[in-house]
Amino acid sequence: MALSGKSAVVTGAAMGIGKAMSEILLQNGAKVVLLDMNEAAGKSLQEALSKQYGQDRTLFLICNVESEEQMKAAFQKTVETFGGIDILCNNAGMLNESEWEKTVSVNLLGVIRGTYVALQHMNKLTGGRGGVIVNTASLAGLGPLPSCPVYTATKHAVVGFTRAMAGASAASGYGIRFNALCPGFVQTDLLSNILARLGPFSHLEALTQTFMDKGVINTSDVAKCLLELVTDETKNGEALIVKSDLKMYMPFPTEPKTPK
Ligand SMILES: NC(=O)c1ccc[n+]([C@@H]2O[C@H](COP(=O)([O-])OP(=O)(O)OC[C@H]3O[C@@H](n4cnc5c(N)ncnc54)[C@H](O)[C@@H]3O)[C@@H](O)[C@H]2O)c1
Repeated sequence: MALSGKSAVVTGAAMGIGKAMSEILLQNGAKVVLLDMNEAAGKSLQEALSKQYGQDRTLFLICNVESEEQMKAAFQKTVETFGGIDILCNNAGMLNESEWEKTVSVNLLGVIRGTYVALQHMNKLTGGRGGVIVNTASLAGLGPLPSCPVYTATKHAVVGFTRAMAGASAASGYGIRFNALCPGFVQTDLLSNILARLGPFSHLEALTQTFMDKGVINTSDVAKCLLELVTDETKNGEALIVKSDLKMYMPFPTEPKTPK
């Protein structure tokens, strides 16, 4: 998939991984709508990016992925501004084991909400152009991070949702690919704050630190993987692992056979 002229939406775009995703999409010719609830950071990033990549290639919209109303309005504005949506990165996320219901709301419900609102604009069966949706899961979406059970649960759910949507899309003819990104520890604010956000599992701080000591990657490493999942049209239903010593597609077991 060539990115020149394509229209992309990135949630949680103001900082961290979302910022790096937005930059790589712009570098490769896409127009990018930055969605974030952090207005100050979002606006200042949009100003910097529009100086670098051109006034008409970026848009910042304040948008909390927990709000159906804000999400609908943001996608509508994207279509009005850039003529459609080809790429969605459901990236906004949080880690706070004390705020477990909010964690589920942002990390899982936000991804489902973003996907369903985007489908209304991207689905080829209802007049959309098709495209690709990449959900930011985590390595914690494939195996447990013991100090963060709720974060782990949301990310496993994102991987499952992504794979099921990939199958549903292929079987229905939506023309949309769905893939999940599964990074290990990435140097962002989320990671800097992790030890203070373990809530009932704060006694597992040292264990968490041991995991982190094995290696932390940069946001640009994750952005390169996003580019691969977006541009490689053979990828659908994949979970791409990226960590300090490894980049690989998760080999899932084949479907269980129905007993005879
Ligand atoms: N940093 C890591 O080690 C790591 C590893 C694997 C996966 N992830 C995932 O990557 C994604 C991005 O995380 P990050 O590390 O860049 O975090 P970050 O805290 O640096 O940035 C997150 C961005 O999302 C925004 N955001 C948070 N809640 C939002 C909401 N409800 N609506 C809209 N925007 C919201 C924040 O304002 C911020 O700009 C998350 O889904 C996270 O779970 C992070």
